[in-house]
Amino acid sequence: MNNYPDITKSSETKNKLSIFCEDIFCGLTATAKYLDSKYFYDVAGDKLFQQIMHSPEYYPTNCELEILSQQTDQIVAEIQGHFNSFDLIELGAGDALKSSHLLHNLLQKNNPFTYFPIDISKNVITTLSNQLPDRLPGLNIQGLNGEYFEMLTRANSISNKNKVVLFLGSNIGNMFPADAERFCLKLKEHLLPGDLLFIGFDLKKNPKVILDAYNDKQGFTRDFNLNLLNRINTELDADFNLANFQHYPTYDPQTGACKSYLVSTEDQQVYIAQADKYINFAENECIYMEISQKYTLQQTLELAQKIGFTPITHFFDSKKWFVDSIWKC
Ligand code: AVJ
Repeated sequence: MNNYPDITKSSETKNKLSIFCEDIFCGLTATAKYLDSKYFYDVAGDKLFQQIMHSPEYYPTNCELEILSQQTDQIVAEIQGHFNSFDLIELGAGDALKSSHLLHNLLQKNNPFTYFPIDISKNVITTLSNQLPDRLPGLNIQGLNGEYFEMLTRANSISNKNKVVLFLGSNIGNMFPADAERFCLKLKEHLLPGDLLFIGFDLKKNPKVILDAYNDKQGFTRDFNLNLLNRINTELDADFNLANFQHYPTYDPQTGACKSYLVSTEDQQVYIAQADKYINFAENECIYMEISQKYTLQQTLELAQKIGFTPITHFFDSKKWFVDSIWKC
């Protein structure tokens, strides 16, 4: 402990706020406007994402939950075949509902491991650190709040054990395929030969099923997108009128890209006080918000091969809508 904890804390907060401000301003002044979907997850965004996951149209969570709850023994056997003592790192842990099946099973089988959930949401990490040890007695947990690679570096500085990295929920779908490739390459640099990656991909399927999952009838996905404008209003003192933006989800079965946009319904100007800048929107101008890329199994194998991971096993749900694959470094 140093003598100036408050100063350290406030400068860290200030820094995060100015990065947020810069990212938002950059995106909204680009020729084709965009916002980074990693900013969806403030407290309200976390809650809306929970509601999306519980909506009847959003199938990925149920598919992956089926895999992790029904095939837990097989998954754990595969991990145990590689290491007996290891670090279990989860990128984007969220509520850890799916991974808790794995954690529970590993604890029952007396595997010595530490669970390092990493999440961009501070709220998520605080909640997990407070609640998981009660739900899973004996669990060693070390929560890390921040960006994936910064937190992976921190995990490496805390422990040099072999790592099993969980990257669930088709979170990789939030990247364009070229970015996903760069991401996996960078991930590999943070791992040791022999380390394992347990990675979830949402598979291509009937296009209507996919589009509906990003256009739920109750409007949670719409509100999830609009909430980022709200967050900008609150944190950057801006004056977005949410009623002037429409949620526009799309899915292209050819490329597998499921993208969402917010459409400005009129010519308008938005002031961001924190940046002291005005942003102009033309009628029907779109803000690109998010991609949720869908893959074929073949495409996931090609991705693994390109970046030098060896696919070991695949776990599918009963509909074969989703796959969790184990790749070896
Ligand atoms: C958390 C990135 C897996 O892309 O399916 C859900 C986020 N966005 N509905 C996804 C999301 C809109 C989700 N991921």
